[in-house]
Amino acid sequence: MEEPSRRNILLAGGVLGALGAMSAATPAQASRLWTWSPAGSVVGAGAGADPRWVWDAEADPLVASLIDSGAVPQVNKLLKSWTKNGQTLPAGLPADLKAFIEKARQLPAWTDKAKLAKAYTFNQKRGTYLGVSYGFASGMMSTVIPHEARAVYYSQGGADMKDRITKTAKLGYDVGTKNAFEPGGEMIVTCVKTRLAHAGVRHLLPQSAVWNKVADEEIPISQADMMVTWHSLPTTVMQQLAKWKVSVPADESAAFLHSWQLTAHMLGILDEYIPASWDEANAQAAQVLTPILAATPEGIKLADILLNLGAVLDAGLLTTHILGALTRYVLGDEIAGWLKIPREPVWDAAFRELWPIFVAVKEGLLKITDAPPALLGVYWAFDEILRLGALLFLSGADFPISIQIPVANNPK
Ligand code: HEM
Repeated sequence: MEEPSRRNILLAGGVLGALGAMSAATPAQASRLWTWSPAGSVVGAGAGADPRWVWDAEADPLVASLIDSGAVPQVNKLLKSWTKNGQTLPAGLPADLKAFIEKARQLPAWTDKAKLAKAYTFNQKRGTYLGVSYGFASGMMSTVIPHEARAVYYSQGGADMKDRITKTAKLGYDVGTKNAFEPGGEMIVTCVKTRLAHAGVRHLLPQSAVWNKVADEEIPISQADMMVTWHSLPTTVMQQLAKWKVSVPADESAAFLHSWQLTAHMLGILDEYIPASWDEANAQAAQVLTPILAATPEGIKLADILLNLGAVLDAGLLTTHILGALTRYVLGDEIAGWLKIPREPVWDAAFRELWPIFVAVKEGLLKITDAPPALLGVYWAFDEILRLGALLFLSGADFPISIQIPVANNPK
C-alpha cells in the first residue's frame, strides 16, 4: 500500500468532491419542461431555450475537428505550459484554437472584484466545512446524477479514477484561492481547459457503444447537465452549511455565489442559465437537480470506489463505515439506499445526534463541558473529517496537473 502523504490525503478528500464535478441527465429529466426564466439569471435576459438541447456552439465543433485531425496530442502537450490566467499562450497552437482561448479566457462584464475578494475571505474562514461538503455532499451526489455517472464511467478518465479525481480536485482548489481569477491565478486556465475537455467528451462519448446502450441522450453534457452538476456543488454546499447552522454573513454568502457564477461562465455555461441569487439558484435546483437524482449501476460502482478510496487514502484513520455513515447523514436514507451503503447503527446515530452539537462547539456556540459526554467518544473522528476537508480545500495540489482534451473513450 502507498505511504500516507499529503498528496494522498488530498486525493482522499478529492476523491469525493472531484467526482462531483463531472456529470449528465436522466429519463425523469427528459420528460420535464424547462420553465425557469432567464429573468432570474445573472444578465436578467435570454432566449429561454430549453438547456437540454443546448451544448457549446463555439467549443464543440472546434474540438471535434482537432480530435478528428489528430492534432490533440500536440495541443495537449503545448497547453501543459499554460498555467496562469495572465500568461501568453504557447506558440504553435492551431490558429482557430488560439482565437477561441483568447476569447474564452476573458471575464464577463458582470465580474465583481470586490465580491471575489470577499469570496476568498469566506473560503479561508470556512474551508474546513467546505471541504467536507464538496466531498461528501457534492462528490457523493454526483454518483446519483445518472448522466454524470455514466459520462464519468464510460469516458477516457473512467479508466483511471485516481488521475481523474486529481484533475477535477484542481478546480475545487483553484476556485478557493486568493487570486483565482486574477492574472497570477489559475482558475481561468482550469475552466477553459475543462471547457475543452467537455467538448471532447461530447464528440467522443456518442461513439462509445456501451455508453450509447445505456444513455438516454445522444450528446452528453448539455447546458442543463452543466447546471445540474453546478447545483451539486455551490447550491448543495450552501444548503449543507445552513443545515449545520454554520453562520455565514450575507455578504460572504453572496460572494461565494459570485465565484461560482463566474466559474459557470468560464466553463461555457450561457449567462442566461446562471442564477443571479441564492433564491433563484434554489428554485432552479429544485427544478433541474432534485427530480433527476436516481441510482444507476455505474453510479453504485463509482460510489463504492469513492468510499473505499477515501478510507484507504486516509491511512485507515477514517474507515469506509464512518465515511458511509457520513454520506447517509449528508445525503439522506433514500440516496444512501440507492447507493447500497450499509446502515451503521453506531455511526449513523453518532452523525445524526452529535454532528450538529460538534459544529456548535466548533462555532463557539456551545461549551464542550455543556455537550453530551457521548460527543467526546466521536470527537476525534469528526475532527479528522474536518481536517481531511481542510487539507483538500486549503492545501491545494502541489504537483503539476494538466487537464487535457481526451482522445478516446474508456477502453475497458
Ligand atoms: C472532466 C469539472 C460538468 C463530464 C472534467 C474536469 C473538470 C470538470 C475539472 C477535468 C478533469 C479530467 O480531465 O479528468 C466540471 C464542472 C462541471 C462539470 C465544474 C459543472 C459545473 C460536467 C457534466 C458532465 C461532465 C455535466 C457530464 C454529464 C465530464 C467528463 C470528464 C470531465 C466525462 C472527463 C473527460 C476525460 O475523460 O478526460 N470536468 N464538470 N462534467 N467532465 Fe466535467
